[in-house]
Amino acid sequence: MPSYFSLLFLTLFCVSAKSNDADNFLSSTQKFPVTMAEKLIRQLNLFPKHEINKATDDSVAATEQGLFEKKLNLSYIGDSGATVQNLGHHAGYYRLPHTKDARMFYFFFESRSRKNDPVVIWLTGGPGCSSELAVFYENGPFKIADNMSLVWNNFGWDKVSNLIYVDQPTGTGFSYSSSEDDIRHDERGVSNDLYDFLQVFFKAHPQYAKNDFYITGESYAGHYIPAFASRVHQGNKNKEGIYVNLKGFAIGNGLTDPEIQYKAYTDFALDMKLINKSDYNTIEKTYPQCQQAITLCGKDRSGVACMAAYLVCTSIFNKIMNIVGDKNYYDLRKRCEGDLCYDFSKMETFLNDQKVRQALGVGDIEFVSCSSEVYQAMQLDWMKNLEVGIPSLLEDGIKLLVYAGEYDLICNWLGNSRWVHAMKWSGQNAFGKAPLVSFTVDGVEKGVEKNHGPLTFLKVHDAGHMVPMDQPNAALEMLQRWMQNKLTKQDHLAPI
Ligand SMILES: *[C@@H]1O[C@H](CO)[C@@H](O)[C@H](O)[C@H]1NC(C)=O
Ligand SMILES: *[C@@H]1O[C@H](CO)[C@@H](O)[C@H](O)[C@H]1NC(C)=O
Ligand SMILES: *[C@@H]1O[C@H](CO)[C@@H](O)[C@H](O)[C@H]1NC(C)=O
Repeated sequence: MPSYFSLLFLTLFCVSAKSNDADNFLSSTQKFPVTMAEKLIRQLNLFPKHEINKATDDSVAATEQGLFEKKLNLSYIGDSGATVQNLGHHAGYYRLPHTKDARMFYFFFESRSRKNDPVVIWLTGGPGCSSELAVFYENGPFKIADNMSLVWNNFGWDKVSNLIYVDQPTGTGFSYSSSEDDIRHDERGVSNDLYDFLQVFFKAHPQYAKNDFYITGESYAGHYIPAFASRVHQGNKNKEGIYVNLKGFAIGNGLTDPEIQYKAYTDFALDMKLINKSDYNTIEKTYPQCQQAITLCGKDRSGVACMAAYLVCTSIFNKIMNIVGDKNYYDLRKRCEGDLCYDFSKMETFLNDQKVRQALGVGDIEFVSCSSEVYQAMQLDWMKNLEVGIPSLLEDGIKLLVYAGEYDLICNWLGNSRWVHAMKWSGQNAFGKAPLVSFTVDGVEKGVEKNHGPLTFLKVHDAGHMVPMDQPNAALEMLQRWMQNKLTKQDHLAPI
């Protein structure tokens, strides 16, 4: 990766703009409105010029809809409970119909247990970070060992679901286009592409279309997930295509309601003793401007207010980080090491290995773990409130789980708990009054949760931003119990 990437690419999973000097950042970023970002995309000429996903003999589903899928034959080490031959592991590209030339890359891992397990799709955030981060470091079927072998993940979510990971928006991970017109700038574009993907996926895999379907993900996916859930629900209502059996959506350490979540930064930082009261008072003075700009952004068609909101609100986070120093803002128990605070180099090495690339059918496409261009292109989307579409989903009985690892700063549990409580729907009062109960796995309390009807909030102990990485067993239990409506069945009260 050329070094200018790290200048532009300011954070990994969620909205922030960390810099050592908030004011310098402000003045330099003001020169980067979206038109500038688009110009950069063209200048950097990042899009591959040739197509690579030609149908081959081992394509198992080369349909006229433009889905190219390969059965994976990678070597896995350890006891999977299945032979490699029996594993339904696939990777593929899908040509997105409402684009000039975009191809969406995805993994599909059939359940290790039962074909009629729910279908779960996972979306990593960024915006612009590849879902392969989750495949190999969070909840995928396997992990990458130090010697670059794949070893089974005993807590892969494919133990209880048929699991899909997509690289999106276009330009992320292995997904690509030859046209910059296909770069997405808002949740409408993102959710339409995801809906199109899902339709063709179920066309190619009709045996899975009747299964329960869940949307999950993390971080900036706190934007994608509600938008995608609403899009699927609307498609079902309008009978636009294959009926999708959407049962619920889960957001892990997400950014969903910026007005509430940006207010929570200073409160959380004070609670966690990251800043003192006088720092708090100083930083908080910025919030009213941030709030006003977010309100305007909600009504704004030109994008000016959204850009202003981005600049002002992220300065709150920057000021906190200036005091906090080199702590990892995804996990306050750790230090931030390297550009992205974690070391994901094993994944990059693995995915650039020639044999792996051949197995995946990705040709010469560069793997971009986090795309600064995609990030930039979504800049005006960042301060949009994605909570607004959720109440109507809840009223129609579609479940929402909001969970958060307690040591994450950037999409902290406090801000998430607040927006979930503030959300206006028919169950709001009852949810507010619901008891906080213990979330226990193997006799150990792994978090505290509360629930009313379709809505559940879960704060996960001993975890940062990436809950399935930090608490793999608890995360798998969470998913399974939530899908089976058993998450809050134990009724013992926990002290707050
Ligand atoms: C997978 O690849 C190995 C060699 O890399 C080969 O021996 C084996 O037969 C392949 N399995 C399948 C199911 O294609
Ligand atoms: C690679 O590492 C894994 C896990 O530590 C181990 O099981 C495997 O034997 C190693 N493979 C080689 C070829 O050393
Ligand atoms: C609060 O912390 C700042 C550093 O962030 C320090 O300069 C200041 O003296 C502290 N104030 C008090 C009252 O402790």
